[in-house]
Amino acid sequence: MKNANKIKWGIIGLGNIANQFATDLVLIENASLVAVASRNTDKANEFAQKYNAENAYDSYDALFQDEQVDIVYIATPHDSHAELSIKALENGKHVLCEKPIALSYSDAEKMIEASRKHNKFFMEAFWTRFIPSVQEVLYKINNGVIGDLKYINADFAFFVKELEGNRMTDKKLGGGALFDVGVYPLFLSYILLGKPKEIIAKSTYHKSGVDLQTTMILHYENAQAVLHAGFVSESNMKASISGTEGRIELNSPWFMADGYSIFKDNHEAAFNLPTFGKGYAHEALECHYCIQNDMIESKQWSHQNSLDLSAIVEEIKNQIGLEF
Ligand SMILES: NC(=O)c1ccc[n+]([C@@H]2O[C@H](COP(=O)([O-])OP(=O)(O)OC[C@H]3O[C@@H](n4cnc5c(N)ncnc54)[C@H](OP(=O)(O)O)[C@@H]3O)[C@@H](O)[C@H]2O)c1
Repeated sequence: MKNANKIKWGIIGLGNIANQFATDLVLIENASLVAVASRNTDKANEFAQKYNAENAYDSYDALFQDEQVDIVYIATPHDSHAELSIKALENGKHVLCEKPIALSYSDAEKMIEASRKHNKFFMEAFWTRFIPSVQEVLYKINNGVIGDLKYINADFAFFVKELEGNRMTDKKLGGGALFDVGVYPLFLSYILLGKPKEIIAKSTYHKSGVDLQTTMILHYENAQAVLHAGFVSESNMKASISGTEGRIELNSPWFMADGYSIFKDNHEAAFNLPTFGKGYAHEALECHYCIQNDMIESKQWSHQNSLDLSAIVEEIKNQIGLEF
Protein backbone atom coordinates (compact mmCIF):
# COMPACT_ATOMS: atom_id res chain seq x y z
CA MET A 1 0.00 0.00 0.00
CA LYS A 2 1.29 3.44 -0.92
CA ASN A 3 -0.42 5.33 1.86
CA ALA A 4 -1.04 3.83 5.24
CA ASN A 5 -2.86 6.93 6.56
CA LYS A 6 -6.47 6.90 7.64
CA ILE A 7 -9.15 7.18 4.98
CA LYS A 8 -11.46 10.07 5.84
CA TRP A 9 -15.14 9.46 5.17
CA GLY A 10 -18.09 11.77 4.75
CA ILE A 11 -21.69 10.49 4.75
CA ILE A 12 -24.67 12.24 3.13
CA GLY A 13 -28.35 11.35 3.70
CA LEU A 14 -28.56 10.29 7.34
CA GLY A 15 -31.33 7.67 7.27
CA ASN A 16 -31.51 3.94 7.91
CA ILE A 17 -28.55 2.68 5.88
CA ALA A 18 -26.30 5.60 6.84
CA ASN A 19 -26.68 4.50 10.48
CA GLN A 20 -25.92 0.87 9.66
CA PHE A 21 -22.87 1.83 7.62
CA ALA A 22 -21.54 4.24 10.26
CA THR A 23 -21.88 1.51 12.90
CA ASP A 24 -19.55 -0.68 10.83
CA LEU A 25 -17.17 2.13 9.88
CA VAL A 26 -16.20 2.66 13.52
CA LEU A 27 -14.96 -0.97 13.57
CA ILE A 28 -12.35 -0.25 10.91
CA GLU A 29 -9.06 0.86 12.36
CA ASN A 30 -7.89 3.08 9.54
CA ALA A 31 -11.29 4.62 8.78
CA SER A 32 -12.26 7.95 10.19
CA LEU A 33 -15.71 9.51 9.87
CA VAL A 34 -14.86 13.21 9.56
CA ALA A 35 -18.11 14.74 8.29
CA VAL A 36 -21.80 14.05 7.90
CA ALA A 37 -24.49 16.01 6.07
CA SER A 38 -28.26 16.10 6.28
CA ARG A 39 -30.93 18.44 4.96
CA ASN A 40 -31.75 18.94 8.63
CA THR A 41 -29.28 20.61 11.03
CA ASP A 42 -30.44 18.84 14.21
CA LYS A 43 -30.27 15.46 12.52
CA ALA A 44 -26.74 16.18 11.27
CA ASN A 45 -25.57 17.25 14.74
CA GLU A 46 -27.15 14.24 16.40
CA PHE A 47 -25.64 11.80 13.91
CA ALA A 48 -22.20 13.45 14.20
CA GLN A 49 -22.34 13.13 17.97
CA LYS A 50 -23.47 9.51 17.85
CA TYR A 51 -20.62 8.43 15.56
CA ASN A 52 -17.96 10.92 16.65
CA ALA A 53 -17.76 12.84 13.38
CA GLU A 54 -15.94 16.20 13.60
CA ASN A 55 -18.13 18.15 11.21
CA ALA A 56 -21.91 18.23 10.77
CA TYR A 57 -23.37 20.08 7.79
CA ASP A 58 -26.92 21.05 6.90
CA SER A 59 -26.27 20.74 3.18
CA TYR A 60 -24.67 18.02 1.06
CA ASP A 61 -22.78 20.69 -0.94
CA ALA A 62 -21.02 21.89 2.20
CA LEU A 63 -19.72 18.36 2.81
CA PHE A 64 -18.50 18.11 -0.80
CA GLN A 65 -16.43 21.22 -0.12
CA ASP A 66 -14.89 19.92 3.10
CA GLU A 67 -11.21 19.46 2.20
CA GLN A 68 -10.73 16.84 4.88
CA VAL A 69 -13.12 14.37 3.24
CA ASP A 70 -11.48 11.72 1.00
CA ILE A 71 -14.55 9.65 0.17
CA VAL A 72 -18.27 10.36 0.28
CA TYR A 73 -20.76 7.60 1.07
CA ILE A 74 -24.03 8.50 -0.66
CA ALA A 75 -26.96 7.06 1.31
CA THR A 76 -29.87 8.97 -0.23
CA PRO A 77 -32.88 7.60 -2.17
CA HIS A 78 -32.38 6.28 -5.70
CA ASP A 79 -33.48 9.35 -7.63
CA SER A 80 -30.52 11.42 -6.36
CA HIS A 81 -27.67 8.89 -6.72
CA ALA A 82 -26.51 10.11 -10.13
CA GLU A 83 -26.61 13.85 -9.44
CA LEU A 84 -24.95 13.59 -6.03
CA SER A 85 -22.26 11.12 -7.13
CA ILE A 86 -21.30 13.33 -10.06
CA LYS A 87 -21.20 16.43 -7.82
CA ALA A 88 -18.97 14.67 -5.29
CA LEU A 89 -16.61 13.47 -8.03
CA GLU A 90 -16.49 16.98 -9.54
CA ASN A 91 -15.44 18.23 -6.11
CA GLY A 92 -12.51 15.83 -6.09
CA LYS A 93 -14.04 13.22 -3.79
CA HIS A 94 -13.96 9.45 -4.13
CA VAL A 95 -17.47 8.00 -4.01
CA LEU A 96 -19.21 4.93 -2.62
CA CYS A 97 -22.83 5.23 -3.81
CA GLU A 98 -25.68 3.10 -2.49
CA LYS A 99 -27.35 0.61 -4.79
CA PRO A 100 -28.99 0.76 -7.29
CA ILE A 101 -26.36 2.84 -9.06
CA ALA A 102 -29.00 4.94 -10.88
CA LEU A 103 -32.53 4.93 -12.25
CA SER A 104 -31.34 4.67 -15.86
CA TYR A 105 -28.44 3.17 -17.76
CA SER A 106 -27.57 6.56 -19.25
CA ASP A 107 -27.24 8.08 -15.76
CA ALA A 108 -25.03 5.16 -14.72
CA GLU A 109 -22.80 5.87 -17.73
CA LYS A 110 -22.53 9.54 -16.72
CA MET A 111 -21.45 8.56 -13.20
CA ILE A 112 -18.70 6.28 -14.53
CA GLU A 113 -17.60 8.96 -17.01
CA ALA A 114 -17.30 11.44 -14.13
CA SER A 115 -15.14 8.99 -12.17
CA ARG A 116 -12.83 8.59 -15.17
CA LYS A 117 -12.77 12.33 -16.00
CA HIS A 118 -11.89 13.39 -12.45
CA ASN A 119 -9.71 10.34 -11.81
CA LYS A 120 -11.51 9.54 -8.57
CA PHE A 121 -12.60 6.16 -7.22
CA PHE A 122 -16.26 5.28 -7.73
CA MET A 123 -18.11 2.15 -6.65
CA GLU A 124 -21.76 1.16 -6.37
CA ALA A 125 -22.20 -0.08 -2.79
CA PHE A 126 -22.90 -3.72 -3.64
CA TRP A 127 -21.87 -4.88 -0.18
CA THR A 128 -23.08 -8.47 -0.79
CA ARG A 129 -20.23 -8.89 -3.31
CA PHE A 130 -17.71 -8.51 -0.48
CA ILE A 131 -19.17 -10.60 2.36
CA PRO A 132 -17.11 -13.71 3.20
CA SER A 133 -19.82 -16.28 2.33
CA VAL A 134 -20.38 -14.87 -1.15
CA GLN A 135 -16.62 -14.54 -1.76
CA GLU A 136 -16.05 -18.17 -0.83
CA VAL A 137 -19.07 -19.49 -2.74
CA LEU A 138 -17.94 -17.66 -5.89
CA TYR A 139 -14.45 -19.10 -5.48
CA LYS A 140 -15.74 -22.64 -5.03
CA ILE A 141 -18.19 -22.44 -7.94
CA ASN A 142 -15.47 -21.05 -10.21
CA ASN A 143 -13.37 -24.04 -9.16
CA GLY A 144 -16.05 -26.49 -10.19
CA VAL A 145 -17.26 -27.66 -6.77
CA ILE A 146 -20.83 -28.16 -8.02
CA GLY A 147 -19.93 -28.87 -11.65
CA ASP A 148 -21.49 -26.82 -14.45
CA LEU A 149 -23.95 -24.19 -13.25
CA LYS A 150 -27.47 -24.77 -14.54
CA TYR A 151 -30.00 -23.10 -12.29
CA ILE A 152 -30.25 -20.28 -9.74
CA ASN A 153 -33.25 -19.57 -7.56
CA ALA A 154 -33.03 -16.46 -5.40
CA ASP A 155 -35.31 -13.82 -4.04
CA PHE A 156 -35.42 -10.75 -1.86
CA ALA A 157 -38.95 -10.28 -0.57
CA PHE A 158 -40.61 -9.26 2.68
CA PHE A 159 -44.01 -8.05 3.75
CA VAL A 160 -44.26 -4.26 4.04
CA LYS A 161 -47.13 -3.31 6.35
CA GLU A 162 -47.15 0.41 5.60
CA LEU A 163 -46.94 0.85 1.86
CA GLU A 164 -48.14 4.46 1.99
CA GLY A 165 -45.70 7.27 2.75
CA ASN A 166 -42.83 4.86 2.30
CA ARG A 167 -39.64 5.52 0.28
CA MET A 168 -40.04 2.03 -1.18
CA THR A 169 -43.30 2.83 -2.97
CA ASP A 170 -42.56 6.48 -3.72
CA LYS A 171 -42.21 6.89 -7.45
CA LYS A 172 -40.48 10.26 -7.20
CA LEU A 173 -37.72 8.68 -5.11
CA GLY A 174 -37.27 5.78 -7.55
CA GLY A 175 -39.10 3.22 -5.42
CA GLY A 176 -40.42 -0.21 -6.32
CA ALA A 177 -39.35 -3.78 -5.68
CA LEU A 178 -37.12 -4.07 -8.76
CA PHE A 179 -34.90 -1.10 -7.93
CA ASP A 180 -34.96 -1.49 -4.17
CA VAL A 181 -34.44 -5.24 -3.73
CA GLY A 182 -34.69 -6.93 -7.16
CA VAL A 183 -31.16 -5.79 -7.92
CA TYR A 184 -29.86 -8.33 -5.34
CA PRO A 185 -31.02 -11.58 -7.00
CA LEU A 186 -30.13 -10.03 -10.36
CA PHE A 187 -26.66 -9.32 -8.99
CA LEU A 188 -26.29 -12.97 -7.93
CA SER A 189 -27.32 -14.29 -11.31
CA TYR A 190 -25.08 -11.78 -13.11
CA ILE A 191 -21.99 -12.43 -10.98
CA LEU A 192 -22.35 -16.20 -11.53
CA LEU A 193 -23.64 -16.45 -15.07
CA GLY A 194 -23.02 -13.03 -16.68
CA LYS A 195 -25.44 -11.17 -18.92
CA PRO A 196 -28.46 -13.28 -19.94
CA LYS A 197 -29.50 -13.90 -23.54
CA GLU A 198 -33.15 -13.28 -22.74
CA ILE A 199 -35.24 -11.96 -19.84
CA ILE A 200 -38.92 -12.39 -19.07
CA ALA A 201 -40.37 -10.30 -16.24
CA LYS A 202 -43.85 -9.75 -14.82
CA SER A 203 -45.00 -7.42 -12.03
CA THR A 204 -47.90 -6.39 -9.86
CA TYR A 205 -48.10 -2.69 -9.06
CA HIS A 206 -48.77 -0.17 -6.32
CA LYS A 207 -51.15 2.67 -7.15
CA SER A 208 -48.14 5.01 -7.31
CA GLY A 209 -47.08 3.11 -10.43
CA VAL A 210 -44.04 1.31 -9.00
CA ASP A 211 -43.83 -2.47 -8.88
CA LEU A 212 -44.80 -4.24 -5.66
CA GLN A 213 -43.77 -7.67 -6.83
CA THR A 214 -41.60 -8.67 -9.78
CA THR A 215 -40.69 -12.16 -10.94
CA MET A 216 -37.93 -12.59 -13.48
CA ILE A 217 -36.66 -15.47 -15.60
CA LEU A 218 -33.14 -15.00 -16.92
CA HIS A 219 -32.34 -17.33 -19.78
CA TYR A 220 -28.71 -18.12 -20.64
CA GLU A 221 -27.20 -20.32 -23.34
CA ASN A 222 -26.86 -23.25 -20.92
CA ALA A 223 -28.58 -22.16 -17.69
CA GLN A 224 -31.59 -20.39 -16.23
CA ALA A 225 -32.35 -18.26 -13.18
CA VAL A 226 -35.73 -17.71 -11.53
CA LEU A 227 -35.65 -14.59 -9.39
CA HIS A 228 -38.16 -12.67 -7.33
CA ALA A 229 -38.43 -9.32 -5.54
CA GLY A 230 -41.37 -8.05 -3.55
CA PHE A 231 -42.93 -6.12 -0.70
CA VAL A 232 -46.15 -8.16 -0.41
CA SER A 233 -45.17 -11.50 1.11
CA GLU A 234 -42.75 -13.07 3.52
CA SER A 235 -40.00 -15.23 2.08
CA ASN A 236 -37.27 -17.55 3.32
CA MET A 237 -34.68 -15.51 1.38
CA LYS A 238 -32.36 -18.40 0.67
CA ALA A 239 -30.39 -18.45 -2.55
CA SER A 240 -29.99 -21.82 -4.19
CA ILE A 241 -27.34 -22.39 -6.85
CA SER A 242 -27.52 -25.70 -8.71
CA GLY A 243 -24.92 -27.43 -10.82
CA THR A 244 -24.44 -30.78 -12.52
CA GLU A 245 -22.60 -32.16 -9.46
CA GLY A 246 -24.30 -30.49 -6.51
CA ARG A 247 -26.07 -27.50 -5.06
CA ILE A 248 -25.08 -24.60 -2.84
CA GLU A 249 -27.49 -22.78 -0.56
CA LEU A 250 -26.52 -19.46 0.96
CA ASN A 251 -27.99 -19.12 4.44
CA SER A 252 -31.00 -16.88 4.86
CA PRO A 253 -31.03 -13.95 4.35
CA TRP A 254 -28.63 -14.84 1.56
CA PHE A 255 -27.55 -11.27 0.69
CA MET A 256 -25.97 -11.02 4.16
CA ALA A 257 -25.34 -14.73 4.68
CA ASP A 258 -23.40 -15.90 7.71
CA GLY A 259 -22.59 -19.16 5.98
CA TYR A 260 -23.64 -21.63 3.32
CA SER A 261 -24.14 -25.34 2.67
CA ILE A 262 -22.95 -27.57 -0.12
CA PHE A 263 -25.32 -30.45 -0.95
CA LYS A 264 -23.47 -33.14 -2.83
CA ASP A 265 -23.66 -36.95 -3.02
CA ASN A 266 -26.56 -37.06 -0.51
CA HIS A 267 -24.47 -35.17 2.02
CA GLU A 268 -24.71 -31.63 3.40
CA ALA A 269 -21.51 -29.79 4.33
CA ALA A 270 -22.22 -26.58 6.26
CA PHE A 271 -19.79 -23.67 6.43
CA ASN A 272 -20.02 -20.90 9.00
CA LEU A 273 -18.66 -17.56 7.78
CA PRO A 274 -20.06 -14.60 9.69
CA THR A 275 -19.70 -11.07 8.42
CA PHE A 276 -17.46 -8.53 10.06
CA GLY A 277 -19.86 -6.15 11.83
CA LYS A 278 -23.21 -5.91 10.09
CA GLY A 279 -21.53 -6.71 6.76
CA TYR A 280 -20.85 -3.20 5.45
CA ALA A 281 -17.24 -3.08 6.65
CA HIS A 282 -16.17 -5.41 3.83
CA GLU A 283 -17.18 -2.97 1.06
CA ALA A 284 -15.62 -0.08 3.00
CA LEU A 285 -12.34 -2.01 3.22
CA GLU A 286 -12.46 -2.57 -0.54
CA CYS A 287 -12.79 1.21 -1.01
CA HIS A 288 -9.73 1.69 1.22
CA TYR A 289 -7.71 -0.84 -0.75
CA CYS A 290 -8.59 0.80 -4.09
CA ILE A 291 -7.96 4.37 -2.90
CA GLN A 292 -4.65 3.43 -1.32
CA ASN A 293 -3.60 1.79 -4.57
CA ASP A 294 -4.69 4.67 -6.82
CA MET A 295 -7.46 2.62 -8.42
CA ILE A 296 -10.62 4.36 -9.65
CA GLU A 297 -12.61 1.14 -9.64
CA SER A 298 -12.75 -2.14 -7.80
CA LYS A 299 -11.75 -5.30 -9.64
CA GLN A 300 -14.40 -7.20 -7.68
CA TRP A 301 -17.32 -4.86 -8.40
CA SER A 302 -16.08 -2.85 -11.35
CA HIS A 303 -17.58 0.03 -13.32
CA GLN A 304 -18.44 -2.46 -16.07
CA ASN A 305 -20.16 -4.75 -13.53
CA SER A 306 -22.38 -1.87 -12.43
CA LEU A 307 -23.10 -0.91 -16.03
CA ASP A 308 -23.99 -4.49 -16.96
CA LEU A 309 -26.32 -4.82 -13.97
CA SER A 310 -27.86 -1.45 -14.81
CA ALA A 311 -28.48 -2.64 -18.40
CA ILE A 312 -30.23 -5.79 -17.09
CA VAL A 313 -32.38 -3.69 -14.72
CA GLU A 314 -33.18 -1.27 -17.56
CA GLU A 315 -34.45 -4.08 -19.76
CA ILE A 316 -36.72 -5.31 -16.96
CA LYS A 317 -37.82 -1.74 -16.21
CA ASN A 318 -38.91 -1.40 -19.84
CA GLN A 319 -40.64 -4.80 -19.92
CA ILE A 320 -42.71 -4.07 -16.81
CA GLY A 321 -43.48 -0.52 -17.97
CA LEU A 322 -41.83 1.31 -15.10
CA GLU A 323 -41.20 4.97 -15.86
CA PHE A 324 -39.48 7.41 -13.54
N1 LIG B 1 -27.04 -1.83 1.38
C1 LIG B 1 -28.13 -2.08 2.08
O1 LIG B 1 -28.24 -3.05 2.83
C2 LIG B 1 -29.27 -1.13 2.00
C3 LIG B 1 -30.32 -1.21 2.92
C4 LIG B 1 -31.32 -0.24 2.87
C5 LIG B 1 -31.27 0.74 1.91
N2 LIG B 1 -30.24 0.76 1.01
C6 LIG B 1 -30.15 1.83 0.01
O2 LIG B 1 -29.73 3.00 0.70
C7 LIG B 1 -30.37 4.14 0.15
C8 LIG B 1 -31.15 4.84 1.24
O3 LIG B 1 -32.07 3.97 1.81
P1 LIG B 1 -32.56 4.10 3.34
O4 LIG B 1 -33.34 2.88 3.61
O5 LIG B 1 -31.44 4.45 4.20
O6 LIG B 1 -33.56 5.34 3.19
P2 LIG B 1 -33.99 6.37 4.31
O7 LIG B 1 -33.97 5.75 5.65
O8 LIG B 1 -35.23 7.00 3.82
O9 LIG B 1 -32.81 7.45 4.27
C9 LIG B 1 -32.50 8.16 3.12
C10 LIG B 1 -31.97 9.53 3.51
O10 LIG B 1 -31.73 10.25 2.31
C11 LIG B 1 -31.92 11.64 2.54
N3 LIG B 1 -32.75 12.22 1.48
C12 LIG B 1 -32.34 13.07 0.53
N4 LIG B 1 -33.32 13.43 -0.28
C13 LIG B 1 -34.43 12.83 0.18
C14 LIG B 1 -35.77 12.85 -0.23
N5 LIG B 1 -36.20 13.55 -1.28
N6 LIG B 1 -36.66 12.11 0.48
C15 LIG B 1 -36.26 11.37 1.53
N7 LIG B 1 -34.97 11.33 1.97
C16 LIG B 1 -34.07 12.05 1.31
C17 LIG B 1 -32.52 11.78 3.93
O11 LIG B 1 -31.43 12.17 4.77
P3 LIG B 1 -31.30 13.65 5.35
O12 LIG B 1 -32.68 14.02 5.82
O13 LIG B 1 -30.34 13.43 6.44
O14 LIG B 1 -30.81 14.55 4.29
C18 LIG B 1 -32.94 10.39 4.31
O15 LIG B 1 -32.83 10.14 5.69
C19 LIG B 1 -31.19 3.62 -1.01
O16 LIG B 1 -30.42 3.67 -2.16
C20 LIG B 1 -31.46 2.16 -0.66
O17 LIG B 1 -31.71 1.33 -1.76
C21 LIG B 1 -29.25 -0.13 1.07
